[in-house]
Amino acid sequence: MSTPPTSTLTPAGLRCAHLVDPLGVAPDRVRLSWRLDGPGRGRAQTGYQVVVEPGGGPAIWDSGRVPSAASADVACPGRPLARGGRYTWRVRIWDEQDAMSAWSEPARFEVELDPAEGWRASWIGLGRIREEFRPPAGRGPADPLRHALSPAPYLRRSFTVRQPVVSARLYVTARGLYEARLNGQRAGDGVLAPGWTDYAQRIGYQTYDVTGLLRPGENVLGALLADGWYAGFVGFDAKRAGAHYGAAPELLAQLVLGFADGTDQWVVTDGEWQGRFAAIRHADLLMGERHDLTLEPNGWDAPGFDPAGWRLVRCRDRDGTRLVADPGPPTRVTQEITPVSITADSAGRHIADFGQNLAGWLRITVDGPAAACVRIRHGEVLAGDGALYTDNLRTARQTDEFTTAGGPASFEPRFTLHGFRYAEISGYPGEPGPGDIVARVVHSDTPATGSFESSADWLNQLFRNIDWGQRGNFISVPTDCPQRDERLGWLGDAQVFARTACYNRDVAAFFAKWLDDVADAQHESGAFSDIAPRLNIPWAGAAAWGDAGVVVPWTVHKMYGDTAILHRHFAAMTAWMDFLERDNPDYLRRCNLGNSYNDWLAPGTDATPRELLATAYWAHDAALMAEIAAAVGRPDQAAGYRALRAKIGSAFAHTFVTAGGQITSGTQTAYALGLHMQLIPDELRAAAASHLVDAIRRADWHLTTGFAGVGYLLPVLSSTGHDEVAYRLLDQRTAPSWRYMIDHGATTIWERWDGWTQERGFQSAWMNSFNHYALGSVGEWLYRFVLGIDQAPGAAGFGRLVLRPHPGGVLRSARGSYRSVRGTVGSGWRLDGDQFRLRVEVPPNVTASVRVPSADPALVRDGTGGVPDAIAAFPGARGGREAVFQVGSGAHEFAGPALRAP
Ligand code: BGC
Repeated sequence: MSTPPTSTLTPAGLRCAHLVDPLGVAPDRVRLSWRLDGPGRGRAQTGYQVVVEPGGGPAIWDSGRVPSAASADVACPGRPLARGGRYTWRVRIWDEQDAMSAWSEPARFEVELDPAEGWRASWIGLGRIREEFRPPAGRGPADPLRHALSPAPYLRRSFTVRQPVVSARLYVTARGLYEARLNGQRAGDGVLAPGWTDYAQRIGYQTYDVTGLLRPGENVLGALLADGWYAGFVGFDAKRAGAHYGAAPELLAQLVLGFADGTDQWVVTDGEWQGRFAAIRHADLLMGERHDLTLEPNGWDAPGFDPAGWRLVRCRDRDGTRLVADPGPPTRVTQEITPVSITADSAGRHIADFGQNLAGWLRITVDGPAAACVRIRHGEVLAGDGALYTDNLRTARQTDEFTTAGGPASFEPRFTLHGFRYAEISGYPGEPGPGDIVARVVHSDTPATGSFESSADWLNQLFRNIDWGQRGNFISVPTDCPQRDERLGWLGDAQVFARTACYNRDVAAFFAKWLDDVADAQHESGAFSDIAPRLNIPWAGAAAWGDAGVVVPWTVHKMYGDTAILHRHFAAMTAWMDFLERDNPDYLRRCNLGNSYNDWLAPGTDATPRELLATAYWAHDAALMAEIAAAVGRPDQAAGYRALRAKIGSAFAHTFVTAGGQITSGTQTAYALGLHMQLIPDELRAAAASHLVDAIRRADWHLTTGFAGVGYLLPVLSSTGHDEVAYRLLDQRTAPSWRYMIDHGATTIWERWDGWTQERGFQSAWMNSFNHYALGSVGEWLYRFVLGIDQAPGAAGFGRLVLRPHPGGVLRSARGSYRSVRGTVGSGWRLDGDQFRLRVEVPPNVTASVRVPSADPALVRDGTGGVPDAIAAFPGARGGREAVFQVGSGAHEFAGPALRAP
């Protein structure tokens, strides 16, 4: 008997719910995925076998050999998953030659606890004190926010372990923020946990494997608590003085120890815990943190400490608020940056420039006398006189302070966040040496998945700015900005940027978490809110904002092939669609537009009519809902949404589009929306695209789009034969343009095209963030058009690709990649004399239609001298043509006569 051949493909990178070995997953989110590694061309998976086993027991699911190419979004339909259950799983595959791979390395996941039965802990805290810290004379300025800021509780509980621990899990959360400690060590490496949700509806918790931190005998479980989003400042309502959800932070934790004999021991937050206020005199996300290092109770979180003077905590039973395993990635410190310069002024203040606008905080190392008060202020830009510019922070203070205890020490805040490129440090004892002042970059840990590099340095800078804008704002929720007193999860900003975000970084789990916030914030009427979590802000229904409730789940599905997200939110999305239809019987969206931000921050005076923009988005929603309904197996509803889409489409065409293909108002955004959302009758598309180009010409080759239109502008130009106009807008050096920002030192994306201009200086300080990602939604165009990394129509999860670069403008070359759920897709092209050379990389189990634009497509050859499978029209240039090659996995090269500039 012959042994079956062994495949050289190996399943790797196993994930569950988009995370590596998650310790808490809701049962409906359990979806498995893997990537295939292995050499060679045309490799594919023809079948898989997955085995899921509980610790020590028989498999709950052995799929057997499933004839399928699916390697993502694989559900686990075996016996029901147990709440709190721990599972390992592995996969093997059969390849295109029917050879079987080896089993993958095992991966694991743990199911979230039963929301009621799984918890024995109570909420504990110290309440709020009004005694408030008054800095002793000479130890720093009196605090004008004294009434609103409160010291951070230190909480501890010692307990005895009498047997060797086989496994230990710490389940922990806070109303507020926590840092959990066990025997002097921190549990996990996340910060700003448990993240932001609407704490009145849903609270996320984290699970840590702390087996290695326990010891026989006395152990100490401890936690620091702070106000965070729960009890601190967030949003722009300074009068509220924070405390949106509650007055004082509370902790909920349970440590479950498992022993070899099958018994367990629980240590839970209860009335036995002790607490006190100590070195952290206040900690607030917007205002900053103040530490008095002389008050640090050293050793408080470890055995052997004498808790004299600590008092018993206040304890409150759990209520019915849902406790869910946090589905998102932890927020972490992901990078450290040392200053590019430190300058001192005559008053002894130092200004550190980190060369990059970022979100995070500083770590400062000192060695000096006791009682020195060091103060750190943070700002994004410098004013003309070289001083820190902080007017645009509004009431956010972004100031950290610490009082030294004497001798060498490091200070670093934990429970705040600042948006800054510059820090002004006063009171530093002596001169800071190298490494004494370091910026710590903080954001939801969403690993980079995209890369881009071209022959134009400024374009590479734009790419970096877009990614830094994302890093600075993806912090538990996608916020508008990380610096001023706002930092809210605006739906419109997230919606326009979602596709770019997915290319840049793995944000599948991040959006999975936030879409629960979006669902929690939905109004009874079905209206999606403007902001999620909703806070005390009742606004809802705004076009391009509320539509995020459909656009973002669809984008996550499209990019990651995830259908669990669609199932989970299908009811919320249909409620939104019903809301829109209820009061707009003539299929024009005129009613219930809420705040109608319209094409927010569009420069110039030409306004896109609000009902035009709103109706376009409604049509878009209906089209996406038809795809969504089909993807979740509801063909009848899909047909219903197609019919709705047709009705909105004809109402739009009838009301807003002329026989000559002009769109009412003639704004660039009106054309971008009309063309992108397929609202112009086919025969008028070319005419409408020319009108768009005319509008751009009239603006002297500047864009006039705001948040709602900007992301579609370049894609629409490139897909209607106007690549050169798209490149011209990109290359535009006078405002409004991306390049203007870069020429003037931007290292992130500005909120406004004219955040700063040579003629007028700073825009109104009232609304002028220098780190707002929405206008960075052009990133999608860099991936999908400049590199040409895109999917075939109707595909989701990058199984079927269209690789169609659009060379143009001044670019001589561009290359980059996208690490999809199926592996890394690469594309790089260069102009070599009159030849266009393209190299693409296709991961195993993926097919691609490679489109090579060429002046003479019949002359294009692949690396083996092969001729094109077909010749087609190239959409990027009028009259342009392309050579089409169908390829499977592997690296492929192509060359042929370059397109000639028009
Ligand atoms: C925010 C935006 C948001 C907008 C709504 C602003 O204050 O910063 O990014 O989308 O309000 O119009």
